[in-house]
Amino acid sequence: MASPILNLTRGQLARSSRGCLPALLTHTPSTTLPTTPPPLTLTPRRFKSGPYGYTQSKALVFTRFGEPADVLHLHTHSISPTLPQGAVLLRTLAAPVNPADVNTIQGTYGARPDFASQDPNSPTNKTRLLLGTPEPAAVPGNEGCFEVTAVGPGVDAGKLKRGNWVIPAGPGFGTFRTHALVEDAVGRLVKVDGTGLSPVQVATVSVNPCSAYRMLRDYVDLVGESVRRFASADPPRGGMWFIQNGANSGVGRAAIQLGRLWGLRSINVVRERETVEETEGLKAELKELGADVVVTEKEFLDRSFGARLKEEWTRGGREPVLLGLNCVGGQSASAMVKALGPRGCMVTYGGMSRQSFPFPTGPAIFKRLRFEGFWLTEWGKENPEEKRRMINEILDLMRQGKFKQMPVQEVKWDWDTEEQVLKDAIQGTLAGFRSGKGLFVFGDT
Ligand SMILES: NC(=O)c1ccc[n+]([C@@H]2O[C@H](COP(=O)([O-])OP(=O)(O)OC[C@H]3O[C@@H](n4cnc5c(N)ncnc54)[C@H](OP(=O)(O)O)[C@@H]3O)[C@@H](O)[C@H]2O)c1
Repeated sequence: MASPILNLTRGQLARSSRGCLPALLTHTPSTTLPTTPPPLTLTPRRFKSGPYGYTQSKALVFTRFGEPADVLHLHTHSISPTLPQGAVLLRTLAAPVNPADVNTIQGTYGARPDFASQDPNSPTNKTRLLLGTPEPAAVPGNEGCFEVTAVGPGVDAGKLKRGNWVIPAGPGFGTFRTHALVEDAVGRLVKVDGTGLSPVQVATVSVNPCSAYRMLRDYVDLVGESVRRFASADPPRGGMWFIQNGANSGVGRAAIQLGRLWGLRSINVVRERETVEETEGLKAELKELGADVVVTEKEFLDRSFGARLKEEWTRGGREPVLLGLNCVGGQSASAMVKALGPRGCMVTYGGMSRQSFPFPTGPAIFKRLRFEGFWLTEWGKENPEEKRRMINEILDLMRQGKFKQMPVQEVKWDWDTEEQVLKDAIQGTLAGFRSGKGLFVFGDT
């Protein structure tokens, strides 16, 4: 269930009394000194705003690779009110935990923090200096929605000002923290118009929906092919087909919705749930999003699937499946190869089963298939402007109610939240059969 606060849109938040939601909207350290000293008390008190306007902040950090439960540590530090040239101070509102975040902490991801770097400007050494950790360190988390709470000298007010909502422009930002001091802020952040949007929607836009968007558009021209076929003598019964496994993932749900908006048809593979009712419930949920066909992995791997594909959905193969999106691997990926039509393309973007799949020589040759790998990180580095444009396009769809947020399991992060609670939330990410993606929502920090 979404938290009541984080589900409020930006407009609703602005209309709410600042007295009711002070921590979410602003972070204004008091600078007024009391005229009489406060009475001595034995109860320890915490000052979120330290002396002289310092912001007290917490961040999850790691200094070596390993399981999140073993290597993450909740680190407290102060941020000076005097911001460097071109820097801004952010307060985190929401941050999802993606599988890649766990893989990064484990050291198995394509991008690895270099903890042994001698370069003082390396990200891990800069984190050590900024956060005051004893060793080079990294803050995990790639996605999040932040509010600008203070702006340093030299920041163009037309580009960033106090109260703006922003998201990281690129990966490796380190979002599992209550606040962030960001140098070169204009280039490293994307300003977001939060009107009509919740922090959760904004925090989850830049990885899953963007990956689905690119994979549906960049490998096979499904939209163009649909248009061509509709104009032919034997028009199809609908747009071109794509097939995907892990269809209930954040990426999968985004692909279903974008595909439907662009007039495409989707065949979606999900793992069976514990009961028939739960499985049927999940199928219905994806159909509600716009899925044309939803099958379980068991149905997909069954010998009868090929015949069903031909007879029930593709008019004897005359409306072929030309794109496969694979985030599972193993047997599921092998079955996907069989389902693809001639000149089809399989894009692998994840390996949730941790199993590789044998390269299918026959189909690869005789169906002249293409096998591609997709990595949003590299795509984003090569296409920064298109990424910003795409993010705004998807946020617009969310605003219009045409794109539904993925289900999330919220973990509230307040100042007093125990380190273990935060670590458990991250450790559980790869467990499977979850009701939603783990997501930190920041309350009284
Ligand atoms: N290459 C890229 O640029 C890129 C970008 C974004 C995401 N990804 C990858 O895409 C995949 C999905 O990411 P996400 O953020 O969308 O995921 P997510 O929302 O966290 O959902 C996880 C998905 O993985 C499935 N899953 C978990 N364990 C599995 C297993 N052992 N075998 C088969 N399926 C399993 C889950 O199915 P159940 O509900 O049945 O457990 C669910 O569909 C991940 O591998 C991620 O790394 C890659």
